[in-house]
Amino acid sequence: TSTQVGIIGAGPAGLLLSHLLHREGIDSVVLEARDRAYVEQRVRAGVCEQPTVDLLDEIGLGTRLHAEGLPHHGFSLRFDGEDHRIALTELTGKSITVYGQQEIVKDLIAAHAGPPIEFEVSDVDVHGIASDTPSVTYTDSGGHRRELRCEVIAGCDGFHGISRRAIPAGALRTFDREYPFAWLGVLAKTPPSDEELIYTHHERGFALHSMRSPEITRLYLQVAPDEDIAAWPDERIFAELRARLATTGGFALHEGPVLDKGVTPMRSFVAEPMRYGSLFLAGDAAHIVPPTGAKGMNLAVADVVVLSRALSDLLRHNDSAGVESYSDTCLRRVWRAEHFSWFMTSMLHVDPAADGFGRRLQLSQLRYTASSTAAATSLAENYVGLPFT
Ligand code: FAD
Ligand code: DHB
Repeated sequence: TSTQVGIIGAGPAGLLLSHLLHREGIDSVVLEARDRAYVEQRVRAGVCEQPTVDLLDEIGLGTRLHAEGLPHHGFSLRFDGEDHRIALTELTGKSITVYGQQEIVKDLIAAHAGPPIEFEVSDVDVHGIASDTPSVTYTDSGGHRRELRCEVIAGCDGFHGISRRAIPAGALRTFDREYPFAWLGVLAKTPPSDEELIYTHHERGFALHSMRSPEITRLYLQVAPDEDIAAWPDERIFAELRARLATTGGFALHEGPVLDKGVTPMRSFVAEPMRYGSLFLAGDAAHIVPPTGAKGMNLAVADVVVLSRALSDLLRHNDSAGVESYSDTCLRRVWRAEHFSWFMTSMLHVDPAADGFGRRLQLSQLRYTASSTAAATSLAENYVGLPFT
């Protein structure tokens, strides 16, 4: 079979790209390794930046987001047992919406048009990416070997996908940072303990209070990078959260049955450029940020907005200016988010190797951010999301 754009991966990047292309009258086929239930249930990011929300509204996909998502106009920076509110909307005129990534994925799958998404494919491989007649081979869910011929391929298959690795090593430059910690995340069946997100710096480590709905709380703890989840029975998780989230005012953490838990490693990673011949990388396939500041999914959305416009110009008007500048345009925004995510991570976590000098710099940065309108505005401007282009 053949299509105009072969899309590998049905995460936010691949699904949204297919949707945006369809609106431009461009055909695509989405190939996904997992089954539908798996991608719809996978618990991941929760914060949609204002530009992400605006885009979903613009393309008619914002209905459930506005009905069920929670608009937030500020969050708390908590340290030394005190809260310091970052008033996002007062400072920037913008806001964010808490709406789980898997809800966006469900909305995108429900709205999918064109050839059906192919779930449960395996042995995906790309061919001829240096030419303008590339193809993707794969085994479909029925066990049949298939070939998909296309004009371009979009590698939206996440950090561990095959797309980035198909690019010759000499054609790609990569940059990365590993952090000496990870996040243990839990989803708990209990109402949030506060209306707003709480980013906490504590000498025992970082903690984050977030939520998914008025009945479901999402909580994160800084743990060791190689932490074994088996060492964290629910009672230990809540005891540690209570210790880190404690305030002088007596913060009461709501506890409840744990619905999901897992450890997420933290890294920063960028591959440059985000294109090789007829293969375009988007989202986590091209870059990773540590989760502090919630930029990962929003970056994936920004990439495919730029990519869909570029591919529309190329495939409908034979104008290649957009595809030529795709990587540079995306990377400018990617590096801003890389810096912001690194900055938030460094400011809020406890680096086990830090000396007294490092710890005092960190505390000084927290106090400055909490007390200076200029510093808080800079943080807020990045947090609510910079324009896509
Ligand atoms: P993905 O969502 O990873 O989608 C890639 C898709 O490609 C997947 O469905 C995968 O199954 C599929 N795939 C992979 N390989 C192949 C293949 N060979 N063939 C076919 N399909 C393939 N961000 C935040 O902002 N906050 C968070 O709390 C947060 N938590 C996270 C927790 C985890 C465990 C992970 C992995 C990421 C988290 N992120 C978080 C980051 C955020 O979820 C990602 O940035 C976002 O999912 C990127 O979307 P994507 O579409 O680029 O990639
Ligand atoms: C969530 C995740 C984040 O990385 C973050 O900075 C804020 C909230 C969340 O999953 O709710």
